[in-house]
This record gives sequence, C-alpha cells and structure tokens, in this order.
Amino acid sequence: MIEIKDITVQFGGVRPIDSLSVTLDAPIVGLIGPNGAGKTTLLNVLSGFVTPVQGSVTVAGSELTKVAPHSRAKHGLRRTFQTDQIADDLTLWQNVEAIADHAHFESSAQAEEAVAKAIDYVGLSHRIHRLGGALSTAERHLAEIAKALIGDPSLVMLDEPGAGMSESESKLLAQIIRGIPAFCGAQVFLIDHDVALIDACCEQTMVLDFGRLLAKGPTSEVLNDAEVRKAYLGEFDELEEVA
Ligand SMILES: Nc1ncnc2c1ncn2[C@@H]1O[C@H](COP(=O)(O)OP(=O)(O)O)[C@@H](O)[C@H]1O
Ligand SMILES: [Mg+2]
Repeated sequence: MIEIKDITVQFGGVRPIDSLSVTLDAPIVGLIGPNGAGKTTLLNVLSGFVTPVQGSVTVAGSELTKVAPHSRAKHGLRRTFQTDQIADDLTLWQNVEAIADHAHFESSAQAEEAVAKAIDYVGLSHRIHRLGGALSTAERHLAEIAKALIGDPSLVMLDEPGAGMSESESKLLAQIIRGIPAFCGAQVFLIDHDVALIDACCEQTMVLDFGRLLAKGPTSEVLNDAEVRKAYLGEFDELEEVA
C-alpha cells in the first residue's frame, strides 16, 4: 500500500506536485495524466530522487520521506526509468546480475538463480548473451523490468514501460505486468501513456492533472469520468473503447 500525504514539490517557480494526498491499495495501480502533469516527479518522490517541500510518503507500512534512495531499495522499492538504464556494452545477463550484486544474497548461487528467474519471467532467456546495445527497444524495456524484480521487491514502479512498443509487444508487456504480484509479491505502480495498457493491467488508476489529483478509483470508472475525458480531450480516442 502507498500512502501519499499532503506532498508538495517545488522546482523554482514550478510546482509539479501540489498538496497531493492519495492512498493506493490495489495490487496494480495505474497513473496517467497529460505530459508535464507530474507523473515522473511523483515516482521520483516515491523512490527518493526528489525531496518534497512538505508531506509524507509511506510504502508497505514504512515511513520513507526522509530515507535515502539506496536505503529505499533495502525497503524493497524498485523502479524503472523512462529512459532505460541498460548498459550497451554489457550482456543482458550482466545488466541484470549487476543489480543482484547489490541485493545481498546469501550466496552467489542464490543470486544467479534470482537473475535467471527474473530474465526467464520476462521471456528473455534466449537473449542472455546478447549485448545491451543489440537488444530491441521492447527487449530493453523488458530487461529493465527484470532488473526491478531482483531481491524480493515490495513495490515495483514502472515509468512508461510501453513506450515505443508495437501493439503485440504491448500485449505481451501487459501479461508480464499483470503477473508481477504473483511472481514476487510486489505491488506495481504503472505510469503509461497507453490507456489500453493501463486498462489491461490496473485494478485502480489515479489521474494527475498538473500536480493535482483529478480522479482515483476503479480503472474503468476513472477512464469513463467526464473530467478525465475533458483533461485528455482529443488525446485518447481509445477511451471510446472503454465500456
Ligand atoms: N528537475 C526539474 N527541475 C525543474 N522542473 C522540473 C524538473 N523535473 C520536472 N520538472 C517540471 O515539472 C513538471 C512535471 O514534469 P514530469 O513529472 O516529468 O511530468 P510527466 O512525467 O507527467 O510528463 C514539468 O513542468 C517539468 O518541466
Ligand atoms: Mg514522465
């Protein structure tokens, strides 16, 4: 469970998050909002890369507001980045293994097993020897997800994992995301532009509109909300499909 209480972020004259309070308690939660709405900033607050000027954040019962990013990883917080962090000159296996090195496994055999399991889960076992630079866009996104599944995560935050994917790749991605809570017991927080992906994955969705909470609730209700549709006017024809 993620509890966000009265969070405000200020960058000079810009206030990308403004007195935001919301509790997110579904296994897979979606976050949508127009470009510049503050989605990545909120994820940065949760992962500790941005310090809010006020408010508190509690994840899985731990108050994290003053906890440094690397210590949040020890609390089980994992994230992917909008620009993936796959090293081009390491193999896929080495990219994922580098995360396991920091995850304090009891033995190297256990670490290797976790790496193999995560890579297998995202369907990339046939690519372990391939260099990061030779992976496709979709494969790089999936490799980022594999990294986020290492070491018993409690919360996996994904920042636009579907960007640049084809429709069939995005369907596969939806299956992978939906299975994460069962795979490792983590809650998932999914940011994406692709409303179809959010709809396919998330029981609960919140909408940010320039730092303020526009809506939060069961995904189909939120996607049919008149205010939400107005905020997205012209941007998402797919919203029509949501029954
Ligand atoms: N480090 C920063 N310094 C100044 N302004 C920033 C910084 N990061 C984000 N912003 C601004 O905050 C707002 C929200 O950005 P962001 O959270 O990246 O939006 P989203 O992910 O929803 O597209 C934007 O106006 C952006 O320009
Ligand atoms: Mg963003």
